[in-house]
Amino acid sequence: MASFAKCLLIATSLVIILIINPSAAAKPSPNVTNADINSICNKTLAPSFCFRVLTNQTLHANETTLFGLANISINIALASANETQFAIAPLIKQAKNFTVREAYTLCSHNYKEAAVAVRDAQRLLAKHNYRGMRISALSAVEEAKACENHIKSPAVCSHSPLHDKNRDFKRYCNIIWAISNRLVQ
Ligand SMILES: *[C@@H]1O[C@H](CO)[C@@H](O)[C@H](O)[C@H]1NC(C)=O
Ligand SMILES: *[C@@H]1O[C@H](CO)[C@@H](O)[C@H](O)[C@H]1NC(C)=O
Ligand SMILES: *[C@@H]1O[C@H](CO)[C@@H](O)[C@H](O)[C@H]1NC(C)=O
Ligand SMILES: *[C@@H]1O[C@H](CO)[C@@H](O)[C@H](O)[C@H]1NC(C)=O
Ligand SMILES: *[C@@H]1O[C@H](CO)[C@@H](O)[C@H](O)[C@H]1NC(C)=O
Ligand SMILES: *[C@@H]1O[C@H](CO)[C@@H](O)[C@H](O)[C@H]1NC(C)=O
Ligand SMILES: *[C@@H]1O[C@H](CO)[C@@H](O)[C@H](O)[C@H]1NC(C)=O
Repeated sequence: MASFAKCLLIATSLVIILIINPSAAAKPSPNVTNADINSICNKTLAPSFCFRVLTNQTLHANETTLFGLANISINIALASANETQFAIAPLIKQAKNFTVREAYTLCSHNYKEAAVAVRDAQRLLAKHNYRGMRISALSAVEEAKACENHIKSPAVCSHSPLHDKNRDFKRYCNIIWAISNRLVQ
């Protein structure tokens, strides 16, 4: 009888510990598999680009969890936004006329905001706020789209180096979006 009471006590304490600290019960998150990466990338606008990025051996993206994969994608998007901001500065300086200068100046503002949005996404990821993270990824895409609209006029430059950078940045943010869709599930 005494041992039964003891067992009951231990069992009760275990339940309480699990309720107070659910992470003690949760299994550690598994590494993502190439199949996971495939199904995430399949939901993006450029699946093969996404797959190339997320299986990059240098980044070891498939040796981490979905959470880690989200952070890797955010870091790449941040680097892309930063690189683009650096690329815009000389374009403004070299602009031959007001139209071109204004377009690139507006893009510079867009990328400042885009970088803010991606940093927000990183902050929200750390708080496990995946819905917020998804919204931030979408607003970063909107900034790149706005930039693209500023420079798409033939009066600016039909082969601006920013076209490719806008496309890539949108693709990186699209990957963040696809991963956050998985994380909210
Ligand atoms: C990706 O999507 C295509 C069609 O949209 C489908 O045929 C294919 O099986 C999907 N692949 C994976 C890995 O989900
Ligand atoms: C990661 O992906 C690469 C490229 O597809 C593959 O060669 C490697 O075996 C994968 N690593 C793991 C741990 O799955
Ligand atoms: C993999 O990532 C590294 C570091 O970011 C980069 O230098 C390299 O170009 C990438 N490779 C591919 C195939 O994207
Ligand atoms: C994830 O992959 C890394 C590198 O291959 C490995 O060291 C680690 O043990 C794996 N983690 C899990 C939970 O499988
Ligand atoms: C931003 O890009 C510039 C130029 O490519 C580089 O020198 C700098 O280290 C980058 N900063 C960050 C935070 O990545
Ligand atoms: C994401 O990666 C950055 C750079 O490696 C790191 O400083 C940060 O702590 C990571 N964030 C999370 C939530 O893991
Ligand atoms: C401004 O410069 C661009 C590129 O040099 C040129 O295509 C465009 O016609 C010019 N616009 C005006 C209003 O001069």
